[in-house]
Amino acid sequence: MTDLMNISRSERVLTLEMNRPEKKNALTHAMYAAMADAIRDAQTDSKTGAVLICAAGDFFTAGNDLADFQSGMPSGKPPVIHFLEAIRDAEKPLFAAVNGPAVGIGLTMLLHCDLSFAAKSATFSAPFTKVGLVPEAASSLLLPQTVGLAMANDILLTGRTITADEALSCGLISRIYEDDTLLEETITAAQQICALAPNSVRHSKALIRAGREAVRDQMNMEMKLFMAQLQSEEFAESARAFMEKRPPRFG
Ligand code: COA
Repeated sequence: MTDLMNISRSERVLTLEMNRPEKKNALTHAMYAAMADAIRDAQTDSKTGAVLICAAGDFFTAGNDLADFQSGMPSGKPPVIHFLEAIRDAEKPLFAAVNGPAVGIGLTMLLHCDLSFAAKSATFSAPFTKVGLVPEAASSLLLPQTVGLAMANDILLTGRTITADEALSCGLISRIYEDDTLLEETITAAQQICALAPNSVRHSKALIRAGREAVRDQMNMEMKLFMAQLQSEEFAESARAFMEKRPPRFG
């Protein structure tokens, strides 16, 4: 359990709120573990029809907590992997309400959400090459499939930040709302899907995702490289630079 995640229910919608606004909702091992458990439990809980991921404050998430990653992974399967597997394998609809910047896994998790809605002011970036890491969440496979190769290269290789309008037009998100109505609209949409025929929704989701068998292999391939990069001087320099609030110096 962690108080950095608020887990609540609105009718049949289970809401997972990242609640670490003073650190831009950077995700710690404990936060990943709490989200993974909640998403897994929701799959067999008859009271839950859909799961919604949202965030407190004005940031969606600044991605992996770099200090946590710098100090190493806990023993056993890392909580981030439990989280990625939970969103990859979820059979019930997953919603995201992106209220502000979505960085790193904040963007890549959307590739496993069925309906991602964003505030007008939201932005999206995956700065893996800026911090000495590589893409995760099978984003190196799913992002080109979702937004096209040209846009995926721009996001994953250059680390460029895109706007909510760009995210909508390239197909990364489904809808944009005003900042102050985003959460309410997303909960309403999730409640509406919960009122539909449950087996029909579940089978439809499975059909839409059929053919994604390569996702598992891609995640494994990414994770090997990700873990290797975590041990690298490139990541060590990035993490030091971040803590010292200066740009990293590579090579
Ligand atoms: N891991 C750990 N701490 C983080 C964090 C992260 N990913 N992102 C932000 N924080 C912390 C900062 O260290 C800072 O803490 P402090 O107040 O104790 O110094 C606090 O959150 C606020 O961040 P700050 O950098 O001052 O906010 P900003 O608005 O100027 O910039 C970001 C926001 C997200 C652009 C910037 O924090 C950033 O680049 N973060 C790293 C993003 C990243 O590389 N994520 C991993 C991708 S794999």
